Amino acid sequence: MKPVRAIILGYGIRGRAYSAYAKTHPDEFEIAGLADPVAEFPANAKCPTWKSWEAALDAGVDADAVVISLPDRLHHKSCLKALEKGYHVLLEKPIGCTWQECVDIAEAQKRTKRLVLTGYVLRYAPFYKKLREVIASGAIGELTSVHHLAAISYGKAAHAYCRGNWSVEAKGTGMLVNKCTHDFDLIEWWTKGKRCKKISSFGSLMHWRPENKPAGAAERCQDCPEQVRENCPFDAYKIYYDRTDLRYHFADESDEAILNMIEKSPYGRCVYACGNDSVDHQTVLMEYDGGLTIILEMESYSQQRTRITHFYGTRGEVIADEHKIEILPFLGDSTTIIPQQHGHHGGGDREIMTEFVKLVRTASPERYSAVLDAALESHRIAFLAEESRKTARTICD
Ligand SMILES: NC(=O)c1ccc[n+]([C@@H]2O[C@H](COP(=O)([O-])OP(=O)(O)OC[C@H]3O[C@@H](n4cnc5c(N)ncnc54)[C@H](O)[C@@H]3O)[C@@H](O)[C@H]2O)c1
Repeated sequence: MKPVRAIILGYGIRGRAYSAYAKTHPDEFEIAGLADPVAEFPANAKCPTWKSWEAALDAGVDADAVVISLPDRLHHKSCLKALEKGYHVLLEKPIGCTWQECVDIAEAQKRTKRLVLTGYVLRYAPFYKKLREVIASGAIGELTSVHHLAAISYGKAAHAYCRGNWSVEAKGTGMLVNKCTHDFDLIEWWTKGKRCKKISSFGSLMHWRPENKPAGAAERCQDCPEQVRENCPFDAYKIYYDRTDLRYHFADESDEAILNMIEKSPYGRCVYACGNDSVDHQTVLMEYDGGLTIILEMESYSQQRTRITHFYGTRGEVIADEHKIEILPFLGDSTTIIPQQHGHHGGGDREIMTEFVKLVRTASPERYSAVLDAALESHRIAFLAEESRKTARTICD
């Protein structure tokens, strides 16, 4: 079988992550072109390149699919055009910046009968597959409630939701839709067959606000007095230079490039002077058919970047923390499972590509529609939660 040929629209972090699959699985996936206005493409790239996604889609390239790893606000237009051109799509989340944009894409998908697979990499990660298996097995009976924490970590949250791409809601989606559609998708999976009927949400931007700027702090970290910087956990030098775990956000991770980035890019701004309005923490309360209740908590100010989920059922509990799954039945012995994980997103980045190739090659138009419909549910809930937060009302479906 020939490899699936895809054009990559947006060659940033996610575009590069998906492109890597062509190197490791050349018999399955081939890059048919790369589009990005500023990214440096690999020197040995043999495919055509363009400066914009529009030019790439107008070029009439022989390809089966496109990967849309563009900024959120470009997902809607680019996905509609890709579908009309007859391409299958791997679309990064969020599907759209509003519920209406998601509906438009769903209608276009049904009309064109192409695949739109959302970048819900966690669904494909071995850890979460195992967790789903445990919950679906009935090992703890019927679920009565779930407490789910999405802990982002102060460094990653400062990077993405204060200084970076998702700091201003009007430029894309708010933090909940951007970050927690993953979590709502996992919840949709765990509660399969049940529908969320009531949603309430609370949250705000509590800390990264101008009035919390320490006395004497400057607008940028390089200009900040040493004694102020020393006492600031969000200092860009601490986050990007002293530590190295967030450097993968930048194409050049060398010390020199990172220092240059801190001095010149938005990522060197004081966290209290970023003009940001995205929330820094949010809670969502949900009630499902049959009485199941779920609490989701999204938190910026955590040490760890992780997800911790506590499931309560009529015959036991499960506690999962992205490393181990503890099963605590009321009858019989407790067990702990530690699933094997390797690769980014616990292997999800690789596994979603395997699934994408398989679906493009073998699935039916009915299956294509089912795949997108399942992904839409997480967006429906996320947008309703935002409506609840902004209107201070419980939303009943
Ligand atoms: N599935 C996940 O776990 C996950 C994780 C992070 C980000 N994302 C999503 O992936 C998308 C991309 O995020 P990212 O972190 O890779 O961002 P990024 O900024 O690193 O990459 C986006 C790229 O798009 C390019 N671009 C901008 N305008 C363009 C245009 N008109 N034509 C072509 N290219 C253009 C930019 O130059 C940039 O290189 C976002 O929608 C984000 O929400 C998903």
